[in-house]
Amino acid sequence: MSQSYNRGLIEDFSRWREFEAGMWAWIFHKFTGWVLIGYLFTHIAVLSTAIPAAGAEQAVLAAEADIYTQTIVTLEELLLVRVLEVGLLAVAVFHMLNGTRLLLVDLGIGLESQDKSFYASLILTGAITVASVPTFIAGAF
Ligand code: HEM
Repeated sequence: MSQSYNRGLIEDFSRWREFEAGMWAWIFHKFTGWVLIGYLFTHIAVLSTAIPAAGAEQAVLAAEADIYTQTIVTLEELLLVRVLEVGLLAVAVFHMLNGTRLLLVDLGIGLESQDKSFYASLILTGAITVASVPTFIAGAF
């Protein structure tokens, strides 16, 4: 015998106001996981197109005029790239902390304090990200 469920309107985007901690953790984990995949492919594309530097002459390498070094230096000169690096760190740290939390929950550890451990992941991510800013911005101006 078949049953039907009222799942609500798909268009009802205002439902996000009723989301609880677990739903935000699920959304953030998906978001950060796919941002990391996007970064991975971008990273490979940028570095692999700079590889011709491998065949550069010694004099060119010594003068740091090879394509690889120029690519990295040009990117790091852009403030936008520095800001994106801070964002990438935040995304990676959150995914690692929340992912570890999820693995522990899967093992039955911390089932009663899932909300608290999610908030702890957020706070720790924020603290590590803020602490990293001086390092990422150093030499940008
Ligand atoms: C310490 C490192 C990491 C840990 C502990 C971790 C943990 C996890 C866990 C537990 C899940 C499954 C979540 C669930 O039950 O729904 C997951 C999903 C995922 N992770 Fe990671 N992960 C890590 C690193 C990475 C990296 C480096 C990438 C990408 C390059 C990545 C990409 C993804 C993606 C795309 C998903 C699926 C998201 C979805 O539900 O659509 N993760 N991760």
